[in-house]
Amino acid sequence: MNINIRLFKDNDAETLSLIQFDSFKTFLGDRVTEMVDPETWRDTVAVKNDRQENAIFVAEQDNMAVGFLSAGADLRHGLGVLNEIGVNPQCHAKGIGSALFAAAEKFWLERGMRKVWTCVSSINTKAQIYYLKQGFTAEGRWRDHFHEGIDEILLAKFYKT
Ligand SMILES: CC(C)(COP(=O)(O)OP(=O)(O)OC[C@H]1O[C@@H](n2cnc3c(N)ncnc32)[C@H](O)[C@@H]1OP(=O)(O)O)[C@@H](O)C(=O)NCCC(=O)NCCS
Repeated sequence: MNINIRLFKDNDAETLSLIQFDSFKTFLGDRVTEMVDPETWRDTVAVKNDRQENAIFVAEQDNMAVGFLSAGADLRHGLGVLNEIGVNPQCHAKGIGSALFAAAEKFWLERGMRKVWTCVSSINTKAQIYYLKQGFTAEGRWRDHFHEGIDEILLAKFYKT
């Protein structure tokens, strides 16, 4: 399968909102009630200053967007964040999520990040396995965080000891 990873373009916004909606429904079901405002993606990538830089990576298959990864770099603290990742549910388990992570990791390393963090829902076993595969380890837990009854597991990956 031919997967191309590139940076977000303005006209990806609506498609990414759809992918986010469909992919998050796979583990949150009816708890996902509305799509992300497309403007949010554009606002995210607009952030680039001496403190913070954001990037959204888009995975394309046959010129169609099939996945995204939203990343940030806190330049003062050397702390990267993986805000969100989502792959079209019809394209799961084909290496797209790993290809997106490789692109984000290059972005973090080029900016000198010493640590990257994210969180994953306690009910999202598939993503937990995915994050462990990318080298994250569990650091703690936020109880009843985004949704009552669902904890978030804090995850981190260190690049320097
Ligand atoms: C998590 C997600 C991004 C992974 O993307 P993907 O393209 O399916 O991932 P990959 O194909 O690169 O798989 C990488 C690893 O993840 C794990 N994985 C992927 N799909 C899996 C599945 N169905 N069951 C168990 N583990 C799985 C495996 O360890 C896999 O490595 P392997 O292929 O060597 O076995 C995707 O499942 C997704 O979009 N999920 C819904 C949204 C979501 O959960 N986002 C994260 C919210 S915090």
